[in-house]
Amino acid sequence: MPFDADVPQDPAALGQSPFLKACRREPVPHTPVWFMRQAGRSLPEYLKAREGVAMLEACARPDLIVEITMQPVRRYSVDAAIFFSDIMVPLRAIGVDLDIKPGVGPVIADPIRDRSGAARLRPLTPDDVPYVTEAVGGLVGELGDTPLIGFAGAPFTLASYLIEGGPSKNHDRTKALMYGEPGLWAELMDRLADITIAFLKVQVAAGASAVQLFDSWVGAVAPEDYRASVLPFTGRIFAEIEALGVPRIHFGVGTGELLGLMGGAGADVVGVDWRVPLDEAARRVGPGKALQGNLDPALLFAPWEVVERRARDVLERGRAAEGHVFNLGHGVLPTTDPEKLARLADFVHEASAR
Ligand code: CP3
Repeated sequence: MPFDADVPQDPAALGQSPFLKACRREPVPHTPVWFMRQAGRSLPEYLKAREGVAMLEACARPDLIVEITMQPVRRYSVDAAIFFSDIMVPLRAIGVDLDIKPGVGPVIADPIRDRSGAARLRPLTPDDVPYVTEAVGGLVGELGDTPLIGFAGAPFTLASYLIEGGPSKNHDRTKALMYGEPGLWAELMDRLADITIAFLKVQVAAGASAVQLFDSWVGAVAPEDYRASVLPFTGRIFAEIEALGVPRIHFGVGTGELLGLMGGAGADVVGVDWRVPLDEAARRVGPGKALQGNLDPALLFAPWEVVERRARDVLERGRAAEGHVFNLGHGVLPTTDPEKLARLADFVHEASAR
């Protein structure tokens, strides 16, 4: 074994973690912080670990998953780790022919556009992803009192990659199928929801303390279409995960008009991008939910004084929420200076200490 997995996390100490408390809307000593896409991208030690190893190969190697997940935890005073993987990993694991191309993103060899394509999406079992179980187990031993966030892609975002064949600006083929073939759409979304549920369950069974459902591109959909064609499936995912007893975070980009519906789908925490101030987001989401967000990731390219002023504003507006987890409004951008992120994590703790 490349890591020591026999030091279990102490459930009582873990339960006191500011991140999990904020998710549960309990009082916290300081606002917890982590960064979407904190693992990888801008870290030189990540680039070194990945030398000569393709992305999907790295995601199937427990030693690399553990190392890359731990890198930002060593460097930054973040309150949570996020499992190093990708939203496409469970699809690859059930045999979808796909690759993750550097600088491009996921590319599908044979896009899914009909019933026989949808039928290729067979259920995921834990045996399809033994490296996930092994890596989560190893991480739980290394992380001590720091919670591990498991994650998965949501059906709309996964469907978009599968139907378009790769990244897409307008998601036109995806929407054509959603509008024009509701029966096929439902079958595809149901199969993806089952895969997502199974992938999240594997991570929680192995020791993840929270889960985040990334519906990154669902902001392309109008509220009424979200309600009719997306919410039934994300709703089922959150309902099935509820029994696992871990906080459920739901995030998408450009979702200002969907925040209430995304909370209503069953998340405990709604992730907010940088376009909607958190006090306004709290109003849109309504009571009974915590919020996560939402500093514009591009702000990290501004002078520190500007970052500090805007981070303070995020913290102040975040007080309107019943619980607040500080994060960026989307993932860390690849050329971000790690020193700035380190300073930001420290600043969030200092400025919010109570
Ligand atoms: O630190 C973390 O957040 C954990 C790891 C993580 C990755 N992908 C690693 C990764 C997470 C949570 C994801 C989720 C993911 N993957 C999403 C949802 C989050 C979001 O950003 O909205 C999406 C849409 C994907 C699909 C995907 N995979 C894209 C768009 C890309 C970027 C392509 C590029 O190179 O610009 C990937 C590749 C990817 N996933 C990388 C990493 C570290 C880069 C691959 C590399 O370094 O070679």
